[in-house]
Amino acid sequence: MTEEAKLYYADYLELEKILGSQHPKSSNKTDEMLFIVIHQAYELWFKQIIHELDIVRSLFSTGNVNDNAGEMSIAVHKLKRVVKILEVLNQQIGILETMTPMDFLEFRNLLLPSSGFQSLQFRIIEAKLGLKMDQRYKANYYKNTRPGGFSRQDYETINQVEAEATLKGLIIKWAERTPFFDESLWKEYQSLYPAAADTQKFWNEYKHIYQDSLSGVEQRQAEELERIFYKEGLGEFSVDAMRAVLFIMLYRNLPIFQLPFDLLSTLIDIDELLSQWRYKHMLMARRMIGMRVGTGGTSGAGYLDGALQQHYIFKELTEISTFLVERSRLPELPKAVKERMSFNS
Ligand code: HEM
Repeated sequence: MTEEAKLYYADYLELEKILGSQHPKSSNKTDEMLFIVIHQAYELWFKQIIHELDIVRSLFSTGNVNDNAGEMSIAVHKLKRVVKILEVLNQQIGILETMTPMDFLEFRNLLLPSSGFQSLQFRIIEAKLGLKMDQRYKANYYKNTRPGGFSRQDYETINQVEAEATLKGLIIKWAERTPFFDESLWKEYQSLYPAAADTQKFWNEYKHIYQDSLSGVEQRQAEELERIFYKEGLGEFSVDAMRAVLFIMLYRNLPIFQLPFDLLSTLIDIDELLSQWRYKHMLMARRMIGMRVGTGGTSGAGYLDGALQQHYIFKELTEISTFLVERSRLPELPKAVKERMSFNS
């Protein structure tokens, strides 16, 4: 091999470009280098998260991800990697907090009107997970191209990404496809409660099982169960999708449900970690700038708190816990259901 053909560490990683990209606007004595490096490190990890999410989305968009085979386990594995990256991103806030508010003031005005608000990759992550423009807190901040907001091009990119299949949308379709409640699988099931001929057996039972599990003051939850699992669904989840997800959570101890359950809990983990990040970032912003407005021109801590409250993506999944019952109340599943689910594709 010639000298030139040998791969060299710095070339492979294109370090000249990466390490040549820190240009503080203030003098060398400020903490601006740390500020730049932290943001760049975030953006690199955002890139990796987007990469993982794209793989998971493409696995689910085939329309027949096999719950007990390779695809599902790859999807869960990739999402768990996203969880690990988000844990690191949460930790990183502590490094930036070694900068004091006065250290920040030394160079803050030089950053105007740019802001982390304009992180396109962060918005792409939110959009690919399933956050829609109109669900965003102060959606107008995104739409108008004032200083501190998005360039027209970035705004269009966010909209384009949003129009593609989101992870949330794909998960809903996957849940709707599950065959658990096909009546032919429930023939041998002995009903404990009388049911009309056209009522699906499990769901006829569950209404009663749930009601029996509620304490006196909780009785009105039975109406919520009726609304969400029998009539309207919840948020973007249809009745069928909500039913499938609750069923997986109820019977998660069965080996066949372990991967689907892992998938759902990992999505909840991602939502939790993102909101932990938003919270830590808000506290950091408050600590650095108090109640000043942000460099991007929002109200600052007030805006960040609004986004924190409103930008949960998989909130329907966490709501499921309201409708669980003690394991001892669960009916034994018919053999046909268990067998069918072992080959669920
Ligand atoms: C001194 C440290 C920081 C302060 C004081 C700060 C402050 C703020 C403020 C006030 C906003 C609201 C928009 C505005 O008006 O500017 C914001 C948004 C944002 N910042 Fe920071 N930030 C800091 C560091 C970081 C870092 C290290 C990142 C990492 C990428 C980051 C990412 C973001 C993101 C993604 C948003 C949008 C959040 C959302 O809409 O939920 N910020 N920041």
